[in-house]
Formats: sequence, C-alpha cells, structure tokens
Amino acid sequence: MILKHKGFKRSMKLYSEAFKIIPYGVSSNTRLWHTICPTFAPCAIFIDRAKGSHLWDVDWNEYIDYRLAFGPVILGHSYKPITNFVHKYEDRGLVYALDNELEIKVTKQILSMVPCAEMVRYANTGTEATMTAIRIARAFTKKDKIIKFEGHYHGHHDYVLFSTDIKLEKLTKDVRTVPMSLGIPHPIKNLVITARWNDFEGIERLVRRHADEVAAIICEPIMANAGVINPKKGFLKHLKKLCNEHGIVFIMDEVKTGFRLAPGGAQEVFKVKPDLATFAKSMSNGYPISCITGRKEVMEMLAPGKVVHGGTYASNPVSLAATLATLKLLKPKVFKHIYSYGNALMKTVHEILTERGISHVVQGYPSMFQFYFTKAGKAFQEYRDWKHVDTDTFARLQFELLKRGVMLDEDNGEPMYVCYSHSKEDLHKTLEAFEEAIPNALVPKSSLGKHFTLHTGLTRRVSHVGHFT
Ligand SMILES: Cc1ncc(COP(=O)(O)O)c(C=O)c1O
Repeated sequence: MILKHKGFKRSMKLYSEAFKIIPYGVSSNTRLWHTICPTFAPCAIFIDRAKGSHLWDVDWNEYIDYRLAFGPVILGHSYKPITNFVHKYEDRGLVYALDNELEIKVTKQILSMVPCAEMVRYANTGTEATMTAIRIARAFTKKDKIIKFEGHYHGHHDYVLFSTDIKLEKLTKDVRTVPMSLGIPHPIKNLVITARWNDFEGIERLVRRHADEVAAIICEPIMANAGVINPKKGFLKHLKKLCNEHGIVFIMDEVKTGFRLAPGGAQEVFKVKPDLATFAKSMSNGYPISCITGRKEVMEMLAPGKVVHGGTYASNPVSLAATLATLKLLKPKVFKHIYSYGNALMKTVHEILTERGISHVVQGYPSMFQFYFTKAGKAFQEYRDWKHVDTDTFARLQFELLKRGVMLDEDNGEPMYVCYSHSKEDLHKTLEAFEEAIPNALVPKSSLGKHFTLHTGLTRRVSHVGHFT
C-alpha cells in the first residue's frame, strides 16, 4: 500500500535556516531540488536516517531510495556486516596519517578484482582521484593537454569541469570546451580538448591532430552523469588503440561504474584495460574513499621527486575497513540480485510506458539505468541527444513518485541505482507507484498544485548551479 505523503514542512523550515548560514543552503549544488519548492526559492530535502534500501526525511516520509547517494550504496544503507566490521577499527583510532596493514589487504583485494590494477594509491573522493590520475599522466608523457568528452563528469576540480552540462541551445556544430563554473583560470581551458562521445572518426581526428600535446584521454566508460549512455560496440577499444599508438595515457574514470557493473568494473564488462583507472563510490558502500590504480610503470610516477600526491585522510583505517568488508561481500549472489531486480524494474517500466503509448527509452545497466521520454525512437548515444528528451514530463513524474514514497533524483541525467537491499516488496511498491503516478505526470502542471513551480532537471542543471555531486 502506498503511504500518504506528509509534505515537506520541516524540510522547508530547516532549509530556510540553512539558507542564511550555508551558501544556498546546501553542501553540494546538485542537492537543490526545485520541484519541491513552494516558490522559485531553491529547496532541499533534509534526511533524518537511512537503512537498507529506504530513506526517511525529517517530516517522516519514507522513501524507497533509487538515488543511493549518487551511487555509493551498493549493499544497502548502514549495512550491518560492514558497519560491524568498521566499528572494530573505529575503536583503534580514526586516522593515523601513517601506514597501516589494511592498505595491503585492500590493495591485494583490488588487484584480484580489477583487470588493469597492478598498484593502488588511495585518496578520499572521486575528484581527488581523477585530479591525481591526470597529473600522473602528464608527468609520464611529459605532455600537458587532456581530451575529455561532452557530458562526462570527473569531479569539480579545474582541469575537468568543462562541457559537462552545456545549455543545449549553446551547443555549436564544432565541439567547444566550455567552463562549467566561475573561478576556473582562463588559461586552463586551453589544456582541455573536448570530443563527442561515441564518435569514432571525431576522436581519431582529434588525436592525430594533437598527439604531440595530449597526455591523457579520460572518459567515463559508461557516460553516467548526463544520461546513462553506453559506449558503442568497440568504442572503448578504439580509444585504447589510439592511446597506445600515440603515447597517450588512457584513463577510465570508474567512479560510478566501478564495483557496480561487475566486480572488475566496466573494464571487465567491456574487456578493455586502461592504463589508469579511478574508483570511489561503491568500493566502500558509502565511506569516503577513492583510489587510483593501473599499470605499474605509470603508477610508479608517484614517488618523491616525481609526482606529488598526499592527503591527511588518505587510507584512513575506517574507510579502508569499510572497503575491505564491502569488496569481500561483492560475491556473484550480490550481482545476481541487483541484476535481476534492475532487469525487472527496467522491463516493467518499459512495459507500463509502452502500454500507455508513451514514447520513451529505458537504457543503461540493471545496476544503473534511467528512462527518458523521447520520440527519437532509439537509445541516445551522446550528450547532444538530450535535445530529443522531454525533461518536463520526467520532472513531473519524479515529483509524483516522490509523493508516493519512491525517490529518484530530480535530474533526468542522473541514473537510478539498485542495491542488494532492494526487496521484492520494494519492487512491487515501486511499480504500483509508477502505475499511479503516470496519469498525473502526463497532465502538465496539474499535479503540482498552485504553489509548485516546475523546473526541469535539465534546466536546473544548466541554469546556475553547475554539476557538483
Ligand atoms: C564519473 C565520476 N567521476 C568523478 C566524480 C567525482 O567524485 P566525488 O563527488 O567523490 O568527488 C563523480 C561524481 O559523481 C563521477 O560520477
């Protein structure tokens, strides 16, 4: 049975307090949810607690969670076997800023799972990991530029925050490198070359033209921050081949795909070994940790007198304990459950929309996917295909689902995630909510009531907040 939503009174009260003392009232720009606001003022939902596959907000609304904190929660919130293991380490000190044996244990575990992994260095966030990987690539190749793809997000540091979510009307035929934040020093733009995802010839042309200057090609192996967009067959192999031929380091940013698509990440699924890879999110089921891994020869650039990388909290025992426990639990039965749940959800959402004659596509992988309202009639393949997507209807449906206890992100570009704790009952309730929510979502604005002002996910992303997770 779908529970009655109690509104967002307390969230809104807390938000107005937060707004006065925390810039924009949030610690990350993407936490602003325009659809739940009574006016044009931005709002955020305040969460009280989370357990398994569920979240409770401060108004005591319960939600089945498909955001899963933008991906990290692979087993379930506060998953007991992980928290119990971590608690043992918490009693022995939280941070030493000295070596500890867990580093070796976790590293051996990663080497046994990830195809490209020959050595591992730890950091705290995905942003730090990609920043360091790029520095290693520059030092290794003695070149400065990087190539990245339109729509691919690699964190909020200056070297990669370009062309992640450009306003569609500002896209030009020629691909441009567009800064996504104020404050990025202007000259850095000249170090970043932007390419179109899944464009075999385009990337080849760029690499041939700039081979002498390009240190690295960095990509999300599945584009998962502006729609879930798979690489076309052979595209990752093509990137790898171009990198090999031209002395360029191939960096796979597996911050989202890592330990979520398969035990060895996307590189296992697509059978392409990058020179370097970055992981975070699912590696620890929610504790802050990330890593850079890859070929020994390249990783050995991290050394005194060569590449500097450091961090007070890097390889702290608490996050390492969570990582060890999580990775050891990622057995076939976990992936089997996630895949069967995700498959059922993808398939049934597709059926529900098809039965109602609503043009759409559902795409991605069962552990990480999204549905899009589009008349294009085919899966979309690159960032520019957003022009065919009706994000208004998605925003209305997302809000209708929220009122029925199912939480997706407001941003259609963000995937829906599945975890090991999602149950049959969750699936049943989610589909029931979908059936109920769709008719309201299809009637423009009617479900939002007189107070609600609709901002689509895409409009929000490109308007003034940039994309920070
Ligand atoms: C592919 C990818 N790389 C890097 C990052 C940055 O990670 P973090 O938010 O931990 O800095 C993200 C965050 O969503 C991501 O999706």
